[in-house]
Amino acid sequence: MVWVAYAIVFFGTIAKRKIKHIYVANWFYGGFILAVALLHIVNNISIPAGLMKSYPVYSGAIDAMVQWWYGHNAVGFFLTAGFLGMMYYFVPKQAARPVYSYRLSVVHFWALIFTYMWAGPHHLHYTALPDWTQSLGMVLSLILFAPSWGGMINGIMTLSGAWDKLRTDPILKFLIVSLSFYGMSTFEGPMMSIKTVNALSHYTDWTVAHVHAGALGWVGFVTIGSVYYMIPRLFGKEQMHSTKLVEAHFWIATIGVVLYIAAMWIAGVMQGLMWSSLNDDGTLTYSFVESVKRTMPYYVIRFAGGLLYLSGMCIMAYNVYRTAIGGKAVDAEIPAVSQTQHH
Ligand code: HEM
Ligand code: HEM
Repeated sequence: MVWVAYAIVFFGTIAKRKIKHIYVANWFYGGFILAVALLHIVNNISIPAGLMKSYPVYSGAIDAMVQWWYGHNAVGFFLTAGFLGMMYYFVPKQAARPVYSYRLSVVHFWALIFTYMWAGPHHLHYTALPDWTQSLGMVLSLILFAPSWGGMINGIMTLSGAWDKLRTDPILKFLIVSLSFYGMSTFEGPMMSIKTVNALSHYTDWTVAHVHAGALGWVGFVTIGSVYYMIPRLFGKEQMHSTKLVEAHFWIATIGVVLYIAAMWIAGVMQGLMWSSLNDDGTLTYSFVESVKRTMPYYVIRFAGGLLYLSGMCIMAYNVYRTAIGGKAVDAEIPAVSQTQHH
């Protein structure tokens, strides 16, 4: 219900627009809303077997396949496409420059939504899934690298000619470092989808490092940057209450993410190597518990990283509160559109 209401509000607003052109950020948002609805419906198709009971139509390997089609596209559309929409709006706004290449952003959109749909099987390497589906998933994941980096470069290059702004503007720092984490996790992802690499990384904390490079670095930072952009404007202020605190938040959060993912990378590779290490007679060199013991210090580092990230959010909450009090609600005027405007 919430999603349907959201879709009606979003597409209703698009339908009522005054200019013909639909800016690329809205394409990403629209794609995200439609794809999440599609995933939810297809993944949950069931046959009713009574008033309170039903059975899923999928079973066995097909069920696993459909669930990871859902799972991977949740990453691709929920954690990526929506946030790319934010990126395409807030990076040019904060940098006060147009998108580096508008043409590239349109190619980025179509290539990304086409390719993401096929990459799901990389979550099911070496399972009962037919081998060719695993290989296809791997190849399409490798292809996915191209549109991902195209988008990342497009975002970062929007700053070309205004690089100096990065030195003084912490909001821009959040947005640009977010794009760097996006680039990093979308390089790492295709590598992990290569079957031989996945044989090492799967089940280990390497996957967890990858997840949080995306979740904390990309999704988190672009959201934080966008919130810092919007809050003063919502309350009729020029700036956040304290730019110094935004700067402090940036460094605390960055150190937090780096500690988190570096610890999990090291732990992950170590686990992978320990689990696959064999004695001369073919028995396992290490028991599972030994690998858990060796991982403990890295979990402590992850905890410290998470704590830093959390404290950054507390600083942000305080800064938002101080900006909001004493602010006044703003009735932003909807700008008139001149008839000659076209793109
Ligand atoms: C080109 C883009 C990407 C590719 C090809 C890719 C590929 C992969 C691969 C191969 C795995 C490991 C699967 C396994 O061994 O179980 C994985 C896991 C994961 N990735 Fe990515 N990734 C990409 C981008 C991202 C981004 C940007 C995010 C987050 C914003 C993300 C979130 C996740 C999550 C949450 C998992 C763990 C799923 C689980 O719970 O098992 N990925 N990805
Ligand atoms: C300071 C913030 C965070 C901390 C400390 C944290 C910590 C953790 C921990 C301990 C796990 C379990 C990993 C394991 O199996 O060993 C986990 C899993 C996960 N987290 Fe986070 N998390 C944070 C923020 C986030 C955010 C913001 C997102 C999404 C936007 C996210 C997405 C996920 C996902 C998808 C998994 C499942 C990964 C998998 O199964 O491979 N996390 N997180």
